[in-house]
Amino acid sequence: MHTEKAIEVVGLRQRYGDFEAVRGVSLEVRPGELFALLGTNGAGKTTTLETLEGYRSAHAGTVRVLGRDPHRDRREVRPSVGIMLQEGGFFADLTVAETIDVWRDLTPRARDRAELLELAGLLKQEKVRVRQLSGGQKRRLDLALAIVGHAKVLFLDEPTTGMDPEARGDTWQIIRDLVADGTTVLLTTHYLEEAEQLADRLAIMHQGRIEIAGTVGEVLAGHGDRIGFRVPPQLPVAELPSLTLPAPSGSSVDAQVAVNGGQTVATYRLTEEAGLQHALGELLRWADERDLRLSGLQVRSASLEDVFLHVVGHTTGEDDR
Ligand SMILES: Nc1ncnc2c1ncn2[C@@H]1O[C@H](COP(=O)(O)OP(=O)(O)OP(=O)(O)O)[C@@H](O)[C@H]1O
Ligand SMILES: [Mg+2]
Repeated sequence: MHTEKAIEVVGLRQRYGDFEAVRGVSLEVRPGELFALLGTNGAGKTTTLETLEGYRSAHAGTVRVLGRDPHRDRREVRPSVGIMLQEGGFFADLTVAETIDVWRDLTPRARDRAELLELAGLLKQEKVRVRQLSGGQKRRLDLALAIVGHAKVLFLDEPTTGMDPEARGDTWQIIRDLVADGTTVLLTTHYLEEAEQLADRLAIMHQGRIEIAGTVGEVLAGHGDRIGFRVPPQLPVAELPSLTLPAPSGSSVDAQVAVNGGQTVATYRLTEEAGLQHALGELLRWADERDLRLSGLQVRSASLEDVFLHVVGHTTGEDDR
C-alpha cells in the first residue's frame, strides 16, 4: 500500500446525539513512529481511536489508516491493524491459553502461543481462567491479543493502566521492540512519563480538541524554567520574596506555594529563559541576608506535567463537561 502517512486524521468531528465529543482533531503519524495521545478524562481520545479502528464512521472530517478509510474499507485495513481497547472483553471462563488460541485461529500468520505468553509475561498464568486474572494481568493479555498478528499499525488505548511499575517497564520494552521492528503505534495514556519515555511525538487533548502537539522538546519549549525550594518552617509564607525579571521587563515572577508530603514548597515559574539567573540571584541574596537555608532547592525546566496542567487549566471551553 502506498502512503507516506500510516495514520492521517483531518478535521475529525464525532458526536453522540447532540453532544460533540471530538471537535476538529487533526494528526498524522508516519510509518514506524510512536504517537502518544494524552488528555483529560472525557477529552475524546477513545472516541478518536475507535474511529481510526473502524468502529464508527467520522461525523465530519477524514481519517485514513495505511491510506484507506478504516470504516468503509474495514475488511482490507483490519488485517494490518492490532487493537487494544480501553476495556477488553474476554470470555471469562476460557483460560489464558484458550483465549490466545481463539485469537490465533482468527489471525493469519499468528505468532506462537508460547511467544505471546512470554512476551506478555503470562507464562505462569497459561492455565488460569480469565476471570481469575488480576487487573494488570488482564491488561497484559489484552496486549498479547493486540500483537497476535504482525500488525503494521497498533492502536493501544491506555495499555499500561493498572500495571505495577515492573510490568509497565516490561510493556514499554515490548512496545519499543515493536516500534524498532517498524510498527506504527498510536497510544493513549494518563502516565506522562510513558509518553516522555516512548513517544516520538505527542498531543494533549482537552474537551474534544488537541491543545498542543509536537515532539516532547517542542511541547516543553516556551514553558520556561522552575525554581523550587522547601519553605523554612519558621518563615511565614507572606514573607517569601517576590522575584523579578531583569530590566526592561522587571515584572514579578509567578509564584505558587503548595503543601507536598507535609512540607510547604514554593515554586517560581519563569516564562522567559533570560530571567532564570536574575531571579535565582535575587533569591539567594534574600536567603543570605536572612541567614536562611533553602533545603530542596532546585532549578529545572518545565515538565510535561507542568505543560499539561497549564494547557488544560487555561482552556475553558464554551461549555463545561
Ligand atoms: N457511547 C457514548 N454515548 C454518549 N457519550 C459518550 C459515549 N462514549 C463516550 N461518550 C462521551 O464522549 C466524551 C469523550 O469520551 P472518550 O471516551 O472518547 O474520552 P477519553 O478521552 O477516552 O477519556 P478517558 O481518559 O476517561 O478514557 C465523554 O464526555 C464521554 O462521556
Ligand atoms: Mg478513553
